[in-house]
Amino acid sequence: MKVGIMGTGVVAQTIAAKLADLGHSVVIGTRDVRETLSRTAPDVYGNPPCRVWLEAHPKVKLLDYPGAAAHGEILVNATSGGGTLEALKAAGKVNMEGKILVDIANPLDFSKGMPPSLTVCNTDSLGEQIQRAFPGTHVVKTLNTVNTMLMVDPGRLAGGDHHMFICGNNAEAKQKVGQMLTAWFGWKHILDLGDITNARATEMLLPIWVRLYGSLKTPVFNFKVVQ
Ligand SMILES: NC(=O)c1ccc[n+]([C@@H]2O[C@H](COP(=O)([O-])OP(=O)(O)OC[C@H]3O[C@@H](n4cnc5c(N)ncnc54)[C@H](OP(=O)(O)O)[C@@H]3O)[C@@H](O)[C@H]2O)c1
Repeated sequence: MKVGIMGTGVVAQTIAAKLADLGHSVVIGTRDVRETLSRTAPDVYGNPPCRVWLEAHPKVKLLDYPGAAAHGEILVNATSGGGTLEALKAAGKVNMEGKILVDIANPLDFSKGMPPSLTVCNTDSLGEQIQRAFPGTHVVKTLNTVNTMLMVDPGRLAGGDHHMFICGNNAEAKQKVGQMLTAWFGWKHILDLGDITNARATEMLLPIWVRLYGSLKTPVFNFKVVQ
């Protein structure tokens, strides 16, 4: 399948590497290809710059946002929450029309230091903002409640006995994404919360997520719902 991933950070790289390994045709998107390739410093996590990562993953291509969006039969939003709407606007409505957009972004505001706060919550969410801005695109919010390592490898924790939330307005799109999470990444327990307004809930899990990270001193944990 042709996949267009908006973003070049660790999430985009992790998803892109996994999908390329599985034989999919993957393009990651950035604001300015030349500027991104000219970076020489590691990212905030100490990961190598994008150019070095691309050299190690020759099957993954880098294009600008419109190029990545046009390439994808299915799209992934892995941009920073504060840049998401700008990034998707640049990607172009026409390149996103009728397609599924898997939204992994969190509306985190680090401007006042740690822990970050949410730029939108309670009565709205980033997932809804995206859906409103792109009514012809099927926004499916998922994967945003786990660290990037777990997104593509849930089995590394408790044999995969933990939950992934999903929400979105289009039942068929949600079902397809759920099947992909299972077939591509190995998710066993996917919990459908309902329409895209439920992105409020999964984005509002981030304040507890970052505090658990601080207490547990590891990002490799997840939520399990027990009835
Ligand atoms: N890291 C995790 O484990 C994790 C887990 C769950 C969810 N998430 C969420 O996943 C998303 C990606 O996280 P990340 O850590 O991989 O990367 P990130 O540093 O949050 O975002 C990097 C990407 O955002 C783009 N971007 C930033 N500001 C922009 C703007 N104003 N306009 C357009 N694009 C802009 C960058 O574009 P350029 O390529 O042009 O620089 C880059 O591609 C975030 O929303 C994060 O909250 C992360």
